[in-house]
Amino acid sequence: MRTPLCDDLGIEYPVIAFTPSEHVAAAVSRAGGLGVLGCVRFNEAEELEAVLDWMDANTDGRPYGVDIVMPNKVPTEGSAGDLTELIPAEHRAFVERTLRELGVPELPEGEAGAGVLGWLHSVARSHVEVALKHRIALIANALGSPPQDVIDAAHDKGVKVAALAGRATHARSHVASGVDIVIAQGYEAGGHTGEIASMVLLPEIVDAVGEDATVVAAGGIGSGRQIAAALALGADGVWMGSYWLTTTEYLETMSGSRTMQDALVAATSADTVRTRIFSGKPARLLKTRWTEAWEQPGAPSALPMPLQNLLVGEAHKRISVSGDPSVVAMPVGQIVGRMNAVRPVAEIMAELVGDFEDSVDRLNLAR
Ligand SMILES: Cc1cc2nc3c(=O)[nH]c(=O)nc-3n(C[C@H](O)[C@H](O)[C@H](O)COP(=O)(O)O)c2cc1C
Repeated sequence: MRTPLCDDLGIEYPVIAFTPSEHVAAAVSRAGGLGVLGCVRFNEAEELEAVLDWMDANTDGRPYGVDIVMPNKVPTEGSAGDLTELIPAEHRAFVERTLRELGVPELPEGEAGAGVLGWLHSVARSHVEVALKHRIALIANALGSPPQDVIDAAHDKGVKVAALAGRATHARSHVASGVDIVIAQGYEAGGHTGEIASMVLLPEIVDAVGEDATVVAAGGIGSGRQIAAALALGADGVWMGSYWLTTTEYLETMSGSRTMQDALVAATSADTVRTRIFSGKPARLLKTRWTEAWEQPGAPSALPMPLQNLLVGEAHKRISVSGDPSVVAMPVGQIVGRMNAVRPVAEIMAELVGDFEDSVDRLNLAR
């Protein structure tokens, strides 16, 4: 399982792992892939600084990357306090009423939940500044090409730039901006996602990009067979997100995630929904009583980014503390149907490689 991407990034296998957990990211890099740490959860640059120091010390000198979120259409800037004032009272009342009806308790005294601010350009720029002082091999951006000065600053340090694309037009505009790696992300994917399935999207993007950039496949990958299929469709590697949520290392970063993992392990590929209730932009989440409540008659529409996540930030914390798997609020893709146990990253990587090799042998036999 080797492609030119392995030489470009200095990795053994063309498997890139998006994850909000530094423990997962480091384990993927140690196992021969490229761990990419999602930075959006860091509202303070100092927290990210400490975590990247830890990554430098725990990746055995192997490369890793970071993922930032700088939406093309800049959301409102401002402090959490100012932005929170823009949230209508009707929305607040709906969230409060819904949590009560779902039986989600209040937070213990002294605990508070915060919404995500990492998708404000001012905060994301602080992530870039911190990341470029560390030993990173890649900066990826969701929701558009990163601004030109971010691409230039990365290239000046020899860091590759990647961006997610849900349509061929997005891919072409990334390449025109100087992006090195286009992540073709299909509809099946967890988190923010477009409307075109991987099977159709991937060859479209490969053809649209030609020799001008490397293409990696994202959305619905959780086996070596699917990696072989992605390479057959023209990709040079894969980018996986959901599959790492049910790893033992994930629990080391997010200690309260056992309930979430139980819910994912029990879910089938039919148990996700694409909805704007997480961030204000369409994102695929686990379908639960929480997501269903937003589809009932009388429920308000989601607010635009970044207000929606500020609205539900505390609700997410309350839900995660509640320990009730039937209300989990978690981005995950349709591949959740294959996530049937909580396992260490190294075991998953070994299985991906073995299954890929079996698939290629089978295809060779069919020639
Ligand atoms: C919990 C979760 C959070 C995500 N957050 C981000 C993010 O902050 N930035 C980003 O570029 N992609 C994010 N994604 C999308 C992943 O980068 C990736 O494209 C996607 O998970 C691939 O599809 P898969 O879920 O089928 O593996 C997220 C995905 C999940 C499951």
